Amino acid sequence: MPQPSPPDKAFYITTPIYYVTAPPSIGNAYTTVAADMIARWHRQRQQPTWFLTGTDEHGEKVMRAAAEHQLSPQEWTDRLVEAEWKPMLSVVDASNDDFIRTTEPRHIERVRDFWQTIRSNGNGDVYSGRYEGPYCVDCEEFKLPGELLDAPDGRQLCPIHSRPVESISEKNYFFKLSAYAERLLQLYERDPTFVQPESARNEVVAFVQGGLQDLSISRSTFDWGISVPWNESHVLYVWIDALLNYVTAIGYGTDDERFAKMWPADVHLVGKDILRFHAVIWPAMLMAAGVDVPHRVFANGWLTVGGQKMSKSTATAIHPSEVVDTFGSDAYRYYFLKTISFGSDGSFSWEHFSAVYTAELANGLGNLASRVAAMVGRYFDGILPDPGEPGLDEQMLATELVRTVAVADAALDRLALHEALGAIEAYVSAINGYLTEQEPWLVSKDESDTGRNRLGTILYTAAEALRGVAVLHNPTMPKTCAALWELLGAQDSLGDLARQDLLAVGRWGQLPAGARVTKGEPLFPRLPDEA
Ligand code: MSP
Repeated sequence: MPQPSPPDKAFYITTPIYYVTAPPSIGNAYTTVAADMIARWHRQRQQPTWFLTGTDEHGEKVMRAAAEHQLSPQEWTDRLVEAEWKPMLSVVDASNDDFIRTTEPRHIERVRDFWQTIRSNGNGDVYSGRYEGPYCVDCEEFKLPGELLDAPDGRQLCPIHSRPVESISEKNYFFKLSAYAERLLQLYERDPTFVQPESARNEVVAFVQGGLQDLSISRSTFDWGISVPWNESHVLYVWIDALLNYVTAIGYGTDDERFAKMWPADVHLVGKDILRFHAVIWPAMLMAAGVDVPHRVFANGWLTVGGQKMSKSTATAIHPSEVVDTFGSDAYRYYFLKTISFGSDGSFSWEHFSAVYTAELANGLGNLASRVAAMVGRYFDGILPDPGEPGLDEQMLATELVRTVAVADAALDRLALHEALGAIEAYVSAINGYLTEQEPWLVSKDESDTGRNRLGTILYTAAEALRGVAVLHNPTMPKTCAALWELLGAQDSLGDLARQDLLAVGRWGQLPAGARVTKGEPLFPRLPDEA
């Protein structure tokens, strides 16, 4: 039975923990950026939030990568985590609250306890046996013969990596996963949003309905892993060690109060390639140990190159820095989250990125903010004028802001990140359209009181609408929104941008007349080849 959550339960979101075999790619950073935007959105709702990410450091794949570099696995992971994986988080401006490495004692000790608990649960859930069958080291996964592809030379290939699988025969321990099929199906039935999107859910349900095989949970032919507590000559299979990061990082088995404030996780974001581990094996492990299952597992699609998954192992990986150096971290975040329907695959191209950057960011939001600031500067010496008498057009923009918040927030709850960003972008266009229609540059020629008042109303309305945009876009483009907040002179009267409750953004008239508006640098500089 699920335990009741304490009233101050945090919204807890995780990314997969990444294998430290090579530097990160924009594929890895995609999941990180999505999780970060969701975490920031919840924080902007003033909700307690916890965002975890980290690195998966055990197993054969990491061990081989270390050997290729003539380093011990520990030296290799220490080096790569510091030189590449932690810096990636700054590159994409991730605001994770913690970073867990599976080689840390806080993880290792609890993993051993967890498996000891399952072994002693009286259900015979752990038993010894022999595994014989195919294994893909790139996936770190025992494969079913039926899912492999046939190569022309007769070898069998992993369908994800298109590389030959290895055949292993080892004395191992097994987890009686097959005994959990019925309970898993009940879980998917009882909670239809446990696995999302719908396509992922269907895949998982069909897979479990097809019957589950027991899972080999130890390896005995190499030693880079967490030793099995009851038999030190085996190491735990890397996945059943790695999945536990989601609980070991938040005090499972050491700090019950903290654990209760975080667990169950609200969202595990995962790539669709690792869906079964999260939606089948992970909940079954938790059930066996008597721990609540997470609320939701959401599978994002792949970033593809030429129709194939971009990956380290096929050398198609682009490093996030390459893209951020050109466009900046905010545009990076915006581009991937806005243009790819979250949950589906998406292809990346420099040309498409440039086009979106120019149209929606430089000419869209950036130009709008500059124009408003320039006109408040020119016509009102940089002091935000009084709102005066709002007419129908002004009321429309105010109402539209309320609607945008509602639409974007509801989309966020469904993890339709692209829809949330689409709604905000439409609002930016509406503000631009409003200015085009009102033609404040012409109204400025009317120097009568009526003309001045009307000009004041138009510019106040545009600035106030931009206040809403600054809060709504802050989870996606924090650097830009800090600059926009500054431009609007909002800090003095409204305080920190982080403290603006996203759900209260629609309350019109928060930006006070008299705020000092400054133009500053363009929010989105022109791209070098256009300048
Ligand atoms: N270590 C495991 C996860 C363990 S979680 C308990 C793993 N690591 S990984 O580094 O190979 O990949 C991690 C995740 O990176 C993928 O699931 C996915 O979220 C992301 N991606 C890697 N390449 C990707 C794309 N080309 N596109 C989108 N996401 C991809 O699997």
